[in-house]
Amino acid sequence: MRYAIVYSSVTGNTLRLANAIKEALPEESCVYFGEPSDEALGAERIYVGFWTDKGTCDAKTSSFLSKITSQKIFLFGTAGFGGSPSYFDQILTAVSEKLNTPDCVFGSYMCQGKMPDAVRRRYEGMEDPIRRKMLLDNFDAARVHPDEADCKRCQEAVRAADENSGVAESK
Ligand SMILES: Cc1cc2nc3c(=O)[nH]c(=O)nc-3n(C[C@H](O)[C@H](O)[C@H](O)COP(=O)(O)O)c2cc1C
Repeated sequence: MRYAIVYSSVTGNTLRLANAIKEALPEESCVYFGEPSDEALGAERIYVGFWTDKGTCDAKTSSFLSKITSQKIFLFGTAGFGGSPSYFDQILTAVSEKLNTPDCVFGSYMCQGKMPDAVRRRYEGMEDPIRRKMLLDNFDAARVHPDEADCKRCQEAVRAADENSGVAESK
C-alpha cells in the first residue's frame, strides 16, 4: 500500500518522529516524505506529523488535514507539555476535528518536545512562584525529548496500527 509521511516541524522535534516512522516502514511503498504538500495526497495512507500550537496542530498541518478525502491517516505530534496522557488525548481529539472524516484515523502517537530557551526566560520572569516552578520543571523535563525511547514507542504505535488495520506492512 502506498504511503506518505508529511511533517510540520519548526525546531526539529516532529521531524525526529517522522524519521523514526520512515525507518519502520518499507522504503519502496513511500510516495512522499516532506512538509505538507498536495503531492502526498495520492497515497492511500498518510502519516501526518504536527507540532502543537495553542492546544491543537500548527496551521500548515491544519490546512493539509482539511484536504484529506478517503486516505487513512496516522497522526503523530510533539507538544511542550508532556506531563499527562489526557493532555495528548485532548490535542489529538482537537486535531482529528480538522478532518472531514475523523474516523479515517487508524492510529496516533504523541510525545513531549523540547522548547526554545527564550520560553524558559519568559517563565523565569513570572511572578506566581507555584506556576513558575511548574512551568520551569516542565520545560526542563522537555529538554531531552523526543529521545530514543520516544522514537521506539512511536515505531511501536505505527506497527500496532498497521497490524490492527488488517494490511500489515511495517518492518
Ligand atoms: C507559538 C508556539 C505555541 C505553542 N503552543 C503549545 C501548546 O499549546 N501546547 C504545548 O504543549 N506546546 C506548545 N508549544 C511547544 C511546541 O509544540 C513543542 O516545542 C514542539 O515539540 C515543537 O515541535 P517542532 O520542533 O517539530 O517544531 C508551542 C510552541 C510555540 C513556538
